[in-house]
Amino acid sequence: MGAAAAVLESCGEPLCVFGTGDLGRSLGQRLLQSGYKVVYGSRRPDSCGPIPPGAQVMNHAAAAQSAGIVFICIHREHYGFLQTLAPQLKGKVLVDVSNNPEKDLFPEANAEHLQRLVPEAFVVKALNTLSAWALQNGPLDANRQANQAVSQVCTRLGFSVLDRGSLSASRELEDFPLQLFTEWRLPLSIALGLTAAFFFYLLIRDVLYAYVNNGKNMSFRIMVSLANQVFPIVSLIMLALCYLPGVIAAGFQLYRGTKYRRFPDWLDRWMLCRKQMGLVALGFASLHVLYTLIIPIRYYVRYKISESVISKVLENRTSEFSNIWAWRSDSYLAMGILGFVLFVLLGITSLPSVSNALSWREFSYIQSKMGYVTLFLCTLHTFLYGGDRFLRPSTYKWYTVPGYMLSLVVPTVVLLLKLLLLLPCVDHHLTRIRRGWERSAPL
Ligand code: HEM
Repeated sequence: MGAAAAVLESCGEPLCVFGTGDLGRSLGQRLLQSGYKVVYGSRRPDSCGPIPPGAQVMNHAAAAQSAGIVFICIHREHYGFLQTLAPQLKGKVLVDVSNNPEKDLFPEANAEHLQRLVPEAFVVKALNTLSAWALQNGPLDANRQANQAVSQVCTRLGFSVLDRGSLSASRELEDFPLQLFTEWRLPLSIALGLTAAFFFYLLIRDVLYAYVNNGKNMSFRIMVSLANQVFPIVSLIMLALCYLPGVIAAGFQLYRGTKYRRFPDWLDRWMLCRKQMGLVALGFASLHVLYTLIIPIRYYVRYKISESVISKVLENRTSEFSNIWAWRSDSYLAMGILGFVLFVLLGITSLPSVSNALSWREFSYIQSKMGYVTLFLCTLHTFLYGGDRFLRPSTYKWYTVPGYMLSLVVPTVVLLLKLLLLLPCVDHHLTRIRRGWERSAPL
């Protein structure tokens, strides 16, 4: 049977997808939405993980036999077994959707390799420039034109239009009037809890301590000084909490030796609200920046500076310029500014109308790689701000540690764990698992 015949015959019969990973599932879902019947071929039809509702799962041989077109959504390293299916794949159209992690990794293209393994099939290279995300959401350009037409009508009606991106955002929009703040509930509760805890902790250290020990009324510090400690501390901890679930998930995958088992519910829920958590953290960081900008115009600060100048003049005293202090303060401010700019960029790219315009690779690059750089810079900013304060006994009022030290615990743990995951042996193992390898895969 020729390739054309196979295509014609395939119109009434199901389309077959080999592989139930992200890409295989997204492709199957899109094919089902477009009216095709879909059959998955799997090593373990009974426990292959979630597949789109409406699709069937069979073993590879049976699935291949039932369809004229077979989409090969598996990594090149696993193509070997297709050779044994040569009789079932004879005369079928095999669509190679694969890509390689690096250029020139293999002497021949994946599609050529596939053709060599199954010479009596017809191999076509297609869909490899689409990510799982793009497959699930469909072509964006068509949406864009339709969006523009509707936007024009709404503008003429006198409304201002906010484009929330592709159709996948409509679910969020439809739920909006019904379930306000559901995805925000956990991040907001964490933010509120941390704010209250740190506010009272710092109130005891900065206000109550001065009153009890020296009889000084420092309650004015609540409005700016205390706030400008609580906001950045909460922001830094919440930024770290955005990345902690990813590290824990990697730990689960390494421990279990597979990516096909579901994460515990609490981890799933945590991962789903990372965007909201990051945006809340960004809000707190912005408050910190605003509060920092007004430091020079505060009455208390101006009073302290002029008092110090006057007393030096009266006592005929000078203080030496310290290069170390200048370096330290410039460095921590520079790290803060760089961290904040990247933080803002992360926030902007997490908005649906922006993220939909990015490819999956660009989006995950920004959110993951740049996210860790942001966390690193903000953590470094806080470490440099602390400097050698931890050596001074006066820092530990009533045997308590300062707030900035507490804020460093979670980010430091996350960064150290990430460093561990980046060790070549661990990284290699994790990458294999994420590409479909399983430690105890049954044959
Ligand atoms: C402390 C500036 C961004 C986290 C400080 C302080 C300044 C400052 C002046 C000392 C405040 C004081 O003495 O009371 C800046 C500037 C930034 C920036 C200019 C960017 C434009 C950030 C970001 C984060 C952050 C993005 C974290 C997400 C912290 C923390 C402290 C701190 C945790 C210690 C608070 C304490 O306990 O006193 N920053 N910062 N900063 N900053 Fe920033």
